[in-house]
Amino acid sequence: MTKTAQNILVTTNKEKLAQAACNHFINLANQIIQQKGRFSVALAGGSTPAFFYSLLGKKSHDIRDWGSIHFFWGDERCVPPNHKDSNYFLAKRALFNQISIPANNIHRILTELPPEQAASNYEVQLRSFFNIPKNAPVEALQSTFDLVLLGIGKDGHTASLFPEDAASEEKKRWVVWSPHLKPPPPMISRVSLTLPIINTASQVTFLVSGEEKADILKQIISPDSTFQDPLPAAKVHPHQGDLLWLIDSAAASKL
Ligand code: 6PG
Repeated sequence: MTKTAQNILVTTNKEKLAQAACNHFINLANQIIQQKGRFSVALAGGSTPAFFYSLLGKKSHDIRDWGSIHFFWGDERCVPPNHKDSNYFLAKRALFNQISIPANNIHRILTELPPEQAASNYEVQLRSFFNIPKNAPVEALQSTFDLVLLGIGKDGHTASLFPEDAASEEKKRWVVWSPHLKPPPPMISRVSLTLPIINTASQVTFLVSGEEKADILKQIISPDSTFQDPLPAAKVHPHQGDLLWLIDSAAASKL
């Protein structure tokens, strides 16, 4: 594994990427639990983190206290919680089914509600958890999540913030929904954390694997002039937190 200037850790393959992500999660969670008594993490969706989540479940004894960890999501597809496309269902199958964790520690986006209500309900959940008053502007926030895990799509999206989508330009709300009627699949309504709240995390870690992400990763990490407006993933810069890129050599091949 090699580390470069911009907190980029490159692993030889996707299995090593999952192992690096697992070790990183365990070390950070145990450190924050010891310091603060609890650890809040927003999980990424998509397929990349699946192996990492299942590896974490297998190494569950390395976590000091699962009861001190609170799970959230960076985004969710508007499908039932037991649907194959559900990001919650991905984490349930890969991780939660392997560990013993209080149900109250799993803060699901309630996709059985209409999308707009699911988004506003999730923001109410977040404000309550972080003890932030309803009318407090997002700019006033010091820090929220201890860790936000994200992936990127080949179009430069992250969470469910897609290029040229109003959700990616949101400046006030913590959570928004978008109809997501065009590729990439699945073309279903999504609920997503917005960039202002993502950038209040103490740490954001991107997990990126595969040669198909190499071109867009180059544009995100070292953009050239062809991209006028920065891609959503390129707008993730935690105000007072750390940004870490965990990528495999195939995805790093154009850097
Ligand atoms: C989602 C994810 C999304 C994902 C990227 C990468 O709900 O789809 O949050 O942002 O992280 O699309 O997905 P893959 O890991 O499947 O390439």
